[in-house]
Amino acid sequence: MKTRIIGTGSYLPENIVTNDDLSKIMDTSDEWISSRTGIKERHLVKDETTASMSIEAARRAMEDAGVTAEEIDLIILGTVSADYITPACACEVQAAIGAHRAVAFDINAACSGFMFALNIANAYLQAGIYKTALILGAETLSKIMDWSDRSTCVLFGDGAGAAVVRADDNVGLLAYDQGSDGARGMVLAGQNRTNNNPLVETSKELQYVHMDGQEVYKFAVTAVPASLQKVIAEAGLTVEDIDYFALHQANIRIIQSVAKRLKVSEDKFPISLDHCGNISAASVPILLDEMNKKGLLKPGMKIAMSGFGGGLTWASAVLEW
Ligand code: ACO
Repeated sequence: MKTRIIGTGSYLPENIVTNDDLSKIMDTSDEWISSRTGIKERHLVKDETTASMSIEAARRAMEDAGVTAEEIDLIILGTVSADYITPACACEVQAAIGAHRAVAFDINAACSGFMFALNIANAYLQAGIYKTALILGAETLSKIMDWSDRSTCVLFGDGAGAAVVRADDNVGLLAYDQGSDGARGMVLAGQNRTNNNPLVETSKELQYVHMDGQEVYKFAVTAVPASLQKVIAEAGLTVEDIDYFALHQANIRIIQSVAKRLKVSEDKFPISLDHCGNISAASVPILLDEMNKKGLLKPGMKIAMSGFGGGLTWASAVLEW
């Protein structure tokens, strides 16, 4: 029994903000951003929320998969920017789509969130506990960015991606690898509320994401190729057998370095970061949906996927489409 992706969907906010737009409100330039990251523009919310984008992405994935809300047993949503601490964004999705039979919860594995959700769903499906799951990655990162810090805010965007996965006798997930390194977690951090009770003086200052970009870069270009090599070998394949590598869209330089280390043509690494920026947990499912909608994914193809980022965390998978 394998875990198969049977449908994908995504949602990007209506409003597009280009690098040139940003250069009008802060000291930056299209040249600086595109040459270092590959990002040209990103979608930012105005009225959309993490839940509203997730709900639309979920509806599109369900339509693509041809499944009804009644059939969904499990909803897992990766995010670091849910609208509420409780209820979970996954529960908001459950209510909106009417998947009343499902169990729904969020997970926080930052940019690896969708890949962790895939593996959790895989474990439930392999154990025979559930048959059909909706997995999502969704972020409104623009609300946790410090818009006066040009070194971080230009990198990120907003959006949601979803996939429906189902237990299948023949094709699906071939191998999986995931890991965490909490000891290095503070190189990419965004603090939640500080203590707030009669015993302490509360900081009224809002906290935002901060990052040691060079440390994150070093982590990504070593952990990701190693994880991909491991998972490809476990699937009984070689890197040459992989038709596409669908990687977390953090930075074009990270993707180029992974391609070089694996000795694979960059043509096998589809890109969405040019028009989306980095959308953390949402970037892999949005990329996968774009590949699906472009008709790139054909039955029998071998797809390697990898998410990596805050935690630090990473997760890779190889699947037969
Ligand atoms: N526009 C113009 N200048 C800028 C900007 C900006 N938006 N941001 C920073 N600068 C300036 C800095 O102030 C600095 O100026 P100085 O030399 O006068 O002090 C100079 O550019 C270099 O700054 P660095 O931070 O050293 O820039 P670096 O070359 O390291 O590039 C980057 C930054 C692109 C983030 C790089 O570190 C990187 O690729 N990191 C990978 C990590 C990553 O992509 N993280 C994304 C999120 S994590 C994840 O998803 C896995």
